[in-house]
Amino acid sequence: MNEFSRWLAATEVSHTIQTTTWIIPTLQTIHILCVAAVFSAAILVDLRIWRLLERDQPLPEIARRFLPTIWPVLLILLVTGSLLIVGEPRRSLLNSTFYLKMALLVVAIALTAGLQRTISSSPNFWDRDLARRVAGRFAATVSILVWCGILFAGRWIAYTQAG
Ligand code: HEM
Repeated sequence: MNEFSRWLAATEVSHTIQTTTWIIPTLQTIHILCVAAVFSAAILVDLRIWRLLERDQPLPEIARRFLPTIWPVLLILLVTGSLLIVGEPRRSLLNSTFYLKMALLVVAIALTAGLQRTISSSPNFWDRDLARRVAGRFAATVSILVWCGILFAGRWIAYTQAG
């Protein structure tokens, strides 16, 4: 990974990102706006599963309104995040916090996709009996913790980068 980071940092596109002052702040701004959108959408559904908000709206309606937003915005996060890496490869690619963030992201994606699939195939899936309600709240709690972990790890990269 050291060799690859060195090679990536020497490419023309990396050099352009490094030397054009507005590119990194612009990518960071887009990244953080997308973080806000994805985080809000996921957390709103999780809080609805806990019945802490929008109790008068059925869960399938809340899920249908917010979850589909997550996928295209994740794509923008992937593009902006990848360009940030191209601009400063060592900062992330040689940093275990970055890999922690990616691992948490895989868990968050699996949970969100699972939630979306179960609700769209069977609208009262998480409300059928007590066991399902408890399982739903457990999944929602894990989802909240994992999304918060991604935010924390995303910020933490700056403080744990290789020298
Ligand atoms: C989809 C793939 C993603 C990639 C490749 C990626 C990559 C990156 C990179 C390279 C940085 C800059 C870190 C630094 O140099 O300090 C960053 C920052 C950050 N990312 Fe991501 N990211 C992705 C998705 C996400 C998601 C889904 C979230 C949260 C929902 C997220 C939250 C953050 C946060 C909070 C920061 C710190 C921003 C700042 O301090 O300005 N990222 N990300």
